[in-house]
Amino acid sequence: MFSHQIDENLSLELPQMHHAEELTAVVLENLERLKIWMPWAVHDYSVESARFFIQRNLRGLSESGSFGLLIRYDGKLAGTIGFHDLDTVNRSAHIGYWIAKDFEGRGIMTCCCRVLIDYLFESMELNRVQINCNVENTRSRAIPERLGFKLEGVLRQVEFINGEFGDWAVYGLLKSEPPAVAGGLTPPTNAADSTTQLQPPATAGGSDKL
Ligand SMILES: CC(C)(COP(=O)(O)OP(=O)(O)OC[C@H]1O[C@@H](n2cnc3c(N)ncnc32)[C@H](O)[C@@H]1OP(=O)(O)O)[C@@H](O)C(=O)NCCC(=O)NCCS
Repeated sequence: MFSHQIDENLSLELPQMHHAEELTAVVLENLERLKIWMPWAVHDYSVESARFFIQRNLRGLSESGSFGLLIRYDGKLAGTIGFHDLDTVNRSAHIGYWIAKDFEGRGIMTCCCRVLIDYLFESMELNRVQINCNVENTRSRAIPERLGFKLEGVLRQVEFINGEFGDWAVYGLLKSEPPAVAGGLTPPTNAADSTTQLQPPATAGGSDKL
């Protein structure tokens, strides 16, 4: 089982099939706030939906090397973070995330983003990381802004969610622009410490493709 300890409270874990019930419970508890922004957070979200996500995630890891991770705080499932749209030719990827209400507002996601960005630039040798946020999602936009991403533009009516077309604010960070925490905030953990660097999870079949 892959698990990465960021500090004494915070860890990242590769989701496996036996996590489906636990993940479903947290998604359903947070459905009303998640469904505003996440197209997969639908009213009939179920254990089957969670199993589908976990299966697709494991397949993505073995086929392309991209993956999502569960975020745990004091052992409790707090949310997920991952990367997708991995482009190994142009060496870029997009990061996505959500966190449960009980864990919001503590800097946990900013910290997890820093750990993942470090992994993408250093271990995966990417050159560019992108975060797309609905323009109205101010909490989400604050994360790339806090981490020193540049706002590169707005894609108009790029998603259809909750019966409306939404615009995305597109944020990019280059390897030559190391992530920063603006506004005098420091990470809540020792995430910047190289001893806590995220290592690639082994795939289900045991091969180490990353
Ligand atoms: C978007 C989302 C992940 C942001 O979560 P968050 O907890 O606000 O994000 P952070 O981890 O960066 O925490 C920032 C907050 O912690 C505070 N904080 C405390 N210590 C901190 C630290 N050391 N470093 C950074 N922030 C810290 C910040 O001041 C900020 O609080 P504020 O919002 O009251 O100003 C969350 O709102 C969410 O899951 N929303 C629903 C799903 C969603 O929108 N996903 C993204 C789609 S693009």
